Amino acid sequence: MKSIFFILVVVLFFTGCSSQNTLPEMPQGVVPAEYWADKYPDQYNTYLKNAEMEATTFGGSIPVDYLEKYPDLKVLYAGMGFSKDYLKARGHVYSLEDAINTARPKPGASCLTCKTADYLDMVNEYGKDFYAMDFTEMAAKAVNPISCYDCHLSTPGEAVITRNHLKEALELLDTQFKMGDLTCAQCHVEYYLDPVTKEVVLPWEYGITVDGMEKYFDERGYYDWIHPTTGTPLLKVQHPEFETYYGSVHSKFGLSCIDCHMPKVENDDGDLFRSHHWTSPLKYIEASCMGCHTGDAEDLIARVEEIQLGVYTKTNEVSALIVQLIQELTEAVESGKYSEEFLNEVRSYHRKAQWRWDFVFVENSTGFHNSKLAHETLDAARYYAEKGLELLRNQR
Ligand code: HEC
Ligand code: HEC
Ligand code: HEC
Ligand code: HEC
Repeated sequence: MKSIFFILVVVLFFTGCSSQNTLPEMPQGVVPAEYWADKYPDQYNTYLKNAEMEATTFGGSIPVDYLEKYPDLKVLYAGMGFSKDYLKARGHVYSLEDAINTARPKPGASCLTCKTADYLDMVNEYGKDFYAMDFTEMAAKAVNPISCYDCHLSTPGEAVITRNHLKEALELLDTQFKMGDLTCAQCHVEYYLDPVTKEVVLPWEYGITVDGMEKYFDERGYYDWIHPTTGTPLLKVQHPEFETYYGSVHSKFGLSCIDCHMPKVENDDGDLFRSHHWTSPLKYIEASCMGCHTGDAEDLIARVEEIQLGVYTKTNEVSALIVQLIQELTEAVESGKYSEEFLNEVRSYHRKAQWRWDFVFVENSTGFHNSKLAHETLDAARYYAEKGLELLRNQR
């Protein structure tokens, strides 16, 4: 199939036809991005820009080594994959190779769900059995990174939801969301893998709040891993951009992800189209922000960075406090002097604190998307870590 596609593209190239109405035959199943290069050059060319790697003060697309940057993570994530290999996210066109190359263990092919458009063909072919199949075997069959098909299927233009985990989770909520948020919520959300089927599930039964999702996990006695030195059953947060953004200043004002991350820009003919370069909007601040915010772009960047610095600083303070709790709880466990009941009470504070700290830490905007929520969540994390430390210190 792929070779036929390639020949068609070559023939097209050599006959030099401008293909507005003579597209090669549509491949079956997942249509690769290149197929649309001639028909939608603006969207396609901006899509290719996702390969660029450029940093901003707190974000950007350089695969920073988080374990080196935040040594606390080795203690916080001890005993699980993220303490072995954890790089900052970069552009969509790298999604498949980065998923394959990470040194983190993969529980199943489910890890491909948000990394390749080919997932959609695979899940069609194998149904729900797909998720528990072998990652390496399935990854070897995948060729496309995140691509047009993930958001448009075979008809670029309107966005559609292609991920069942999102469709199913939305049925649990009464809220009406905008498509400009949902198209990203297919992947930029908190999720977990069903312990038996390894299927991707969004924990939304009690809503998309920090407390609601925690309640969902607590009720099931669910944990991602047990911390090796404290014995705490912990939760690992993924990347809750959608849940964090909801309820923010901009979301209340009616903006969705695509207003900032896919702003309308002009091509050489002066026609407007949506940029398909998903990256830090601070790189395109004129198009993304200055339609509403007046004044100097530099001043707005400074405002953003001030918000981010506040969240960044608090995140580090709270992570240091949780590390302290882990150290003292570890000593308490090792001393053999305390009852399991007492230790479990401290562990429950450790679990609550770490869930909340992680929720802010792994959210990719360093607090910008919803700084009020980020601060509240970190304050709660601090409160629980202090409660845990207090219990331990009072027992000495
Ligand atoms: C009001 C504008 C705005 C909206 C709306 C918005 N973002 Fe952002 N987003 C930003 C800014 C600003 C940053 C920080 C970029 C930086 O630090 O360089 C960011 C960062 C990110 C990042 C990390 C990018 C990087 O460079 O590290 C991701 C991923 C992201 N946003 C996804 C989303 C998703 C998904 C939504 C919708 C649920 C959303 N954003 C809504 C403005 C916005
Ligand atoms: C991550 C999701 C996503 C991916 C991947 C994606 N698009 Fe889009 N695309 C959108 C959204 C969202 C819109 C805006 C839809 C709307 O306004 O209703 C859009 C709009 C469009 C439009 C309408 C015109 C415009 O620019 O607003 C075209 C054409 C298009 N995309 C083509 C493509 C092509 C070609 C690719 C692959 C190279 C692609 N898209 C990949 C989300 C995506
Ligand atoms: C099919 C899953 C999927 C969808 C849909 C998706 N993303 Fe992503 N996104 C990812 C993955 C995976 C990465 C990390 C890729 C890597 O690091 O290799 C990522 C990375 C990013 C980044 C960081 C890139 C950088 O250069 O800073 C931004 C920003 C982003 N996505 C925004 C969006 C927005 C906005 C939408 C909706 C229009 C969206 N994404 C839809 C999976 C997805
Ligand atoms: C559709 C209009 C609109 C767009 C586009 C927009 N904003 Fe805003 N923004 C607002 C409104 C309205 C407020 C609330 C009033 C205020 O504080 O100015 C706001 C508030 C803010 C604030 C202060 C509140 C806070 O803590 O979040 C910052 C910082 C900000 N915006 C940055 C940005 C950046 C950066 C972008 C582009 C990535 C952007 N905005 C895009 C309308 C917009």
